Amino acid sequence: MSPKEMVLRRLRESGGYVSGEELSELLHVTRAAVWKDVGLLRGEGYEIDSATNRGYRLVSCPDRYSPEEIGAGLETELVGRTVFCFDSVDSTNEEAKRQALRGAPSGSLFIAEQQTGGKGRLGRNWVSPPGTGMWFSVLLRPGVLPMRVAATTLLAGEAVCGAVREVSGCQAMIKWPNDVVSGTKKICGILTEMSAEMERVEFVVIGIGVNANAAAFPEALREKATSIRLETGKTVRRVTLLQEVLRRLEALLKENAVALTPAFLESYKADCASLGRQVGFQHKGREMTGTAVDISPEGELIVRLPDGALETVFSGEVNIQGFYGRKDPAT
Ligand code: BTN
Repeated sequence: MSPKEMVLRRLRESGGYVSGEELSELLHVTRAAVWKDVGLLRGEGYEIDSATNRGYRLVSCPDRYSPEEIGAGLETELVGRTVFCFDSVDSTNEEAKRQALRGAPSGSLFIAEQQTGGKGRLGRNWVSPPGTGMWFSVLLRPGVLPMRVAATTLLAGEAVCGAVREVSGCQAMIKWPNDVVSGTKKICGILTEMSAEMERVEFVVIGIGVNANAAAFPEALREKATSIRLETGKTVRRVTLLQEVLRRLEALLKENAVALTPAFLESYKADCASLGRQVGFQHKGREMTGTAVDISPEGELIVRLPDGALETVFSGEVNIQGFYGRKDPAT
């Protein structure tokens, strides 16, 4: 650890003032050298107060993705314990898959300021400009049956929804299976990919894109997308939100390792904006509409068709009337 990192660590631990004398003794350097390290940290965006006879105090940290910032105060055992940060990458999902093949451990986090080839579901692209968003992927080596992976994406949606509410106060909900919305617009999309054989999952990559602090969207997205900032009027510290997502994701993965628990299903249903709404979906090549009425124990969406029959929707696109600018769920 460099002297600068040691200064930062001590200031974080203390939470209050730490004297220049204590820091110079800790680092075995002069007080002038400590002053220089404090200057370097300030240059990186750390706000550090200095007061005569009291020393230095860490006031605030930059909202920058670095293993140190993400690790500081992270309350997980596995998820996010190995961190790969990028200023720019094609796609954090692609990078996670590349590193998975090279042996990156379960729980590894891949996060970028910008993605040049961000991927959405169903082959769409995901616009990922620098500075305001959260574009990240978590690699898991769960050792479960491939059919259980779909349920994992529900856990990720619930983790993001809860974290957004807690950290920003934005009244987020989930559009089944795992879009996170505010009102009728999307603030987060999740793309889960896996490498599997018939009976065994080698790894799963959960890719999460959160529109955190975007101040505006291009015309083409304006009806569909929003950001936490646009919804609350405040910017959110992305590192804090990220840590809360990771904490919740790890807890949900542990609690629901064998099957989705009744407690999870209850909270997911309470947070699910799709229930009670008119939805449109594809079934055996046909467009169908109905009312979303329930979530099955496996996490599927149950829809009541106009003739009263119940249909189970496993995956794919489910449109909701009035959401993402849709007048009609079937179009
Ligand atoms: C969707 O279509 O709703 C899913 C969007 C998923 C976007 C995230 S951003 C981080 C990760 N990397 C990608 O290329 N995609 C996912």
